[in-house]
Amino acid sequence: MDKILVRGGRRLRGEVAVSGAKNAALPILVSSLLTAEPCVCHGVPDLLDIYTVLKLLGGLGVRVKRGDLQAASGEVTLQADQVPHLEAPYDLVKTMRASFLVLGPLLGRFGEARVSTPGGCAIGARPVNLHLKGLAEMGAEIDLIHGYVVAKAKRLRGAKIYLDFPSVGATENLMMAAALAEGVTIIEDAAREPEVEDLAAVLNKMGAWVEGAGTDIVKIEGVKELHGVTHRIIPDRIEAGTYIVAAALTGGEVEVKGARPDHLDAFLLKLKETGAMLSTDRDKVKVVGKGRPVSVDLTTLPYPGFPTDLQAQMMVLMAVSNGVSVITENIFENRFMHALELNRMGADIRLEGNRAIVKGVERLSAAPVMATDLRASVSLVLAGLVAEGQTEITRVYHLDRGYAHVERKLSGLGADIERVRG
Ligand code: EPZ
Repeated sequence: MDKILVRGGRRLRGEVAVSGAKNAALPILVSSLLTAEPCVCHGVPDLLDIYTVLKLLGGLGVRVKRGDLQAASGEVTLQADQVPHLEAPYDLVKTMRASFLVLGPLLGRFGEARVSTPGGCAIGARPVNLHLKGLAEMGAEIDLIHGYVVAKAKRLRGAKIYLDFPSVGATENLMMAAALAEGVTIIEDAAREPEVEDLAAVLNKMGAWVEGAGTDIVKIEGVKELHGVTHRIIPDRIEAGTYIVAAALTGGEVEVKGARPDHLDAFLLKLKETGAMLSTDRDKVKVVGKGRPVSVDLTTLPYPGFPTDLQAQMMVLMAVSNGVSVITENIFENRFMHALELNRMGADIRLEGNRAIVKGVERLSAAPVMATDLRASVSLVLAGLVAEGQTEITRVYHLDRGYAHVERKLSGLGADIERVRG
């Protein structure tokens, strides 16, 4: 298995380009199941999760033509004109839980689906009850057999669905299912993430009728069939936020190109409180790190609140801040595992349920550490950038799931980082 070595002490300088958003690309690629016509996506990022979802769609019978995802074009063409298999197998769904998003489109277009339940993961139980409750309200018959969701519906019918939690995945699954249902579906307390909006934009380009995406009430009027689409994926706000933190952390000066500040409001406001100097344009953020970060408290919330996917990165910044910071994680029940690894690097973090009390220290010290989940792994790379000595990070496949060429992008900014092929 590969590992990453980082030697701390360098200030990051220069420009870095943000790739397409993983969490927009995944549902958008899956939405190709809703039509027999070709769907062309541009700006698809070069990530392990993308290869997994393309393998899953190929296994269903979708014709997949993939360009070189290392190129900026990142073009993928999908055509679901024959879909003989309606099953998403356990081995793929357990590798990447977003595979569960095929349930809504398969049910909406073909009236049946057999999808493995994703099970939990490192950061939490990750139930799918809201997905299933919504589909049942749309008339689907749903059984759980040997760890698979077996769902059937002659034709889904529109329903008024209230989500007890603004689940991103449930909103996306139900939007796709509703696009071909009979009548109008209203999703209340819908997730408002930009990735949900990007999926809705694709569905409308395909001839669907989706209104209100990006707000907490999404209305979808079902149509008989959908046609092909061409779409460029929005930039990855979480990747952008990660490099912005890296610049602030190292006291560097970095321009993050392709970053959409309008997708990062809560995060940028919080970062300004730590003393970082920020200037923004429509599609870029310039950040200058100013001395030791000021300690701030932060609480993760559904969008537009502070994103849980940037919590681990901010914890590193607070770990070397000038006081005490309280970080409250409200989205996932076990998303502090990076804290234990950061403490091995000399951080002073105490965990109390869903709160982490972070007492800033002068310097971190390098240590061999292990990645556990996607965002925790990148926080260990960030810590390595400011730790004394060489940090060795193992299990970097977690990193490769969500960050395209992180060592290449960071060394392009002057970091002393390398990947050792294992
Ligand atoms: C999406 O996951 C993202 N993944 C996650 O990013 C992100 O952290 C999360 O949204 C929250 O913003 C993708 O888009 C592929 P949820 P998702 O359903 O859809 C509970 C990353 O690092 N819940 O919004 O799985 C659930 O337990 C990943 O890129 C239910 O209770 O998240 C959790 O506590 C990590 N029942 C909360 O809602 C359900 O049926 C948020 O989950 C569904 C969810």
